[in-house]
Amino acid sequence: MKYGIISDIHGNLEALKEVLAVCKQESVDKYLCLGDIVGYGPNPNECIEIVQDIGAVCVAGNHDWATTARLDATYFTPDGKSAVTWTREHLTMEGFGFLNGLPITEKTEEFILVHGTLFEPELFRYQNIIAKAPNSFSLMDRQLCFVGHTHAPLILIQTNDNVYSSSERELEIAEAAKYIVNVGSVGQPRDGNPLASFCIYDTDIGMIDIRRVKYDIEEVQKKIIDAGLPGMLAYRLSIGM
Ligand SMILES: [Fe+2]
Repeated sequence: MKYGIISDIHGNLEALKEVLAVCKQESVDKYLCLGDIVGYGPNPNECIEIVQDIGAVCVAGNHDWATTARLDATYFTPDGKSAVTWTREHLTMEGFGFLNGLPITEKTEEFILVHGTLFEPELFRYQNIIAKAPNSFSLMDRQLCFVGHTHAPLILIQTNDNVYSSSERELEIAEAAKYIVNVGSVGQPRDGNPLASFCIYDTDIGMIDIRRVKYDIEEVQKKIIDAGLPGMLAYRLSIGM
């Protein structure tokens, strides 16, 4: 079974389409989505419809719930708040209902999905450093947990009492270890690499593969400006920050 794992699409339709094209080429069987389908980008409704069409198992991101006012957005950056307001004004009723109904965590037979951290997931913390990882690993009753939110790919590994990170982007799963895999962001990468980030997990060979793919950034930037969204949201796409 091949899983395509996507996160933080943020209304970036061009990036999502390119990611899904690669997933199709790779004969991905099932999709998992780790939240923040909307916010920042100019195509929230189209991205929601695609996530629904591919039948992705999906959890809520902070932008998804802020858009439906299920989460207080007062701690968002000014650009984040503007994007929440813009998205709320442009969201269809169907899209609103879908985002509002997303669960905070989801479990399949093999995985746990959460946008931020497994501990206090409703606070949407960043799972970005090793120091925070033991709290999440201790709650894992599956070998794998997929996360997003930071917009930077990262693999955290626990073996016995050791927790460490791996800089590998292709990694074979070891039976005795647990993994927290941050798949990065489809629609607004922030690791200095502007290419869309996602993950393919092949359960037959036990391989995690974090991929990057090119998309038409200029087209999205034009749409962001034309939509009246903050200019910084367009600029940052070209530098991956
Ligand atoms: Fe996000």
